[in-house]
Amino acid sequence: MKKITAALLAGTAALAFTASVQAEPDGEAIYNQACMACHMTGAAGAPIKGDADAWAPRLEQDMETLYAHAIEGIGAMPPKGGHMNLSDDEVKAAVDFMLEPVL
Ligand code: HEC
Repeated sequence: MKKITAALLAGTAALAFTASVQAEPDGEAIYNQACMACHMTGAAGAPIKGDADAWAPRLEQDMETLYAHAIEGIGAMPPKGGHMNLSDDEVKAAVDFMLEPVL
């Protein structure tokens, strides 16, 4: 009986893991963890979240360019904000979250 319970538990855990991997990345959580330090304060000249004037010239580029710069780094910004553990999709979700108030 014990064995069956363990197998069931393992199965449930595997399902939960699959679900969390397939879910859309949480842009807000990623922003808070990886981007906020610069993009809330303007550190190193980072455009501040919600500052329409700071973002206006950048938004003239298309989204693909903005994503690429966030992933590859630009100027004083390191690739992925220095968080190389993030996937490209996670960085894109954080960009979407950051730009949402100014789009
Ligand atoms: C170490 C500070 C720092 C961190 C952390 C950081 N950024 Fe930046 N970011 C900058 C700076 C500085 C710029 C302006 C660079 C320039 O244009 O010279 C910038 C610019 C950008 C731009 C505009 C790019 C463009 O083409 O104009 C995007 C988008 C961006 N960051 C997204 C992010 C995301 C998403 C994260 C988190 C995953 C993040 N940044 C984390 C400093 C940072």
